[in-house]
This record gives sequence, structure tokens and C-alpha cells, in this order.
Amino acid sequence: MNITVDGVKLDYQISGPADGQPILLIHGFPFSKALWEPMMASLLDFRVIAPDLRGLGRSEPSDETSMASYVDDCLSILKDQHDGRPLTVLGMSMGGYIAFEFFRRARLHVQAMVFLDTRSAADSDEAKKGRFATAETVIKEGSAVVADAMVGKLFAPSAAPELRAKWRDLMSQSNPRGVAAALKAIANRPDSTVTCAKIDVPTLIIVGEEDAITPPEDSRKMNASIAGSMLAVIPQAGHMAAVERPLLVGDAVAEFVRSL
Ligand code: MLT
Repeated sequence: MNITVDGVKLDYQISGPADGQPILLIHGFPFSKALWEPMMASLLDFRVIAPDLRGLGRSEPSDETSMASYVDDCLSILKDQHDGRPLTVLGMSMGGYIAFEFFRRARLHVQAMVFLDTRSAADSDEAKKGRFATAETVIKEGSAVVADAMVGKLFAPSAAPELRAKWRDLMSQSNPRGVAAALKAIANRPDSTVTCAKIDVPTLIIVGEEDAITPPEDSRKMNASIAGSMLAVIPQAGHMAAVERPLLVGDAVAEFVRSL
């Protein structure tokens, strides 16, 4: 399905019964809603809304984007397709950065939060510089540059080579304009550490035990600063816990949403 926002066509998928508990799934960088396929078997009872973020997956790019505009895109899809019930907002990695922004901008739409393999802190100045430099390289040389740089860090050491190869290919097919815009948006994102203390909805934090990009330490810090939050550490999984251990992650999400 798709919707056009400001002249940009955004693709999304909706599944599950119309009266199922609603969940918004926000994928990470530079992935797409394909990230959720392996864990969808756990989420059949729920109304799941899964966009491809602007410039990623099948959604068209624009040269500029931001955490705020990704949230606005999600809200446009919800306005068009959702009945207005507050949702569980689940964000993986960059999707988590967006989920924080969603909470800040649209608290009334939020029933609960799930942070998956993400962090609350902003980038260091050095990391920001690296992202801007990579954004320029991606425009010149294509998205394989990012795919090759990331693939080694994404998975637990025990992950199957086929899984790595599949995601390397998917990442390298991403639209370079969308990837470059996302890199700049990530670099410019606000620090969400202060937001943690303001989160007043049920919150689940999930992290792969061997996540080398947003390590469990980041999740423990969020767990300590979000009142009443729960932490699930997924064994034998890295940053891509959602595809490395989809049943464990999907079942943890399902159990949490059922408990609301
Ligand atoms: C992601 O998975 O969304 C990215 O690795 C996030 C990041 O680079 O900070």
C-alpha cells in the first residue's frame, strides 16, 4: 500500500485483524519493513502497521529528512489508515531514535514503547563527521559502501553466512539518496537521554546480547532511566536480533503487548 506525502510516495504494510491491538513498527538504517518478516508469525493477533521510511525500502527519497519528518510520515500513514487508538510504538535502532521523537511529538498516540537494539544518546562530534562524509560517498559510489561497512558488525559471530549475505544485498540495493538523507538525519538527531525520564507509558527494551552497534550497556542505561521499564536480553543475537532470533524477539513483543 502507499500514500503520497508532500509529493513523495511512501510504502507501508498493514496486517492483522482491524480490532487487534495496534503496533507501529519502525525499522532501522538502512533497512526496510522486510526486517519484520521473520517475526510476523508472533504478531498475527495484532494490527501491525509497518512503513518503509522515506528513502528506504520501497518509499521514495527526498534529499532532506529528519527524525521529525520521519515521525510526520508515520503520522500521515496513521491518519489515513488507523482508527486513532493509541499504539505500541516499536523502533529498531534508527527506528528507536524516531520512536523517541514520536513520543515527544505525539504522546497522545502512544500506548506503550518498545526499543529494540537502539540507544538514547546522540552521536559524538566525530561520529557525526563520519556520517556526513559517508553520506557524500554514498551519493558518488552507491549504497554498497554502507552495506560493506556495516555487515561485519550487524550480526552475532555465530550468525549464518547466508543471513549476512542476504542483508548485505538488501542494504546495497537501498536508494543512495535515501541512505544519504538518513545518515544526515541520524547525525542531526537530538539527544534523547532526557526523554527517557519523561516516558510515562509501559516500556520494553530488547537488545541482542552480542549487539556491537548499540551494545547491551546502552539498553541498560535506558532501562535505568525509563521508570518501570523492562529489559529483555536476547542470547546469541547481535544488532539484527529481529532477524537472528525472530521468535524470541517476536514472542517478547507479543507477550508485552498482550499484557497492556
Ligand atoms: C541502525 O541500525 O539503524 C543504525 O545502525 C543506527 C546507527 O548507525 O546509529
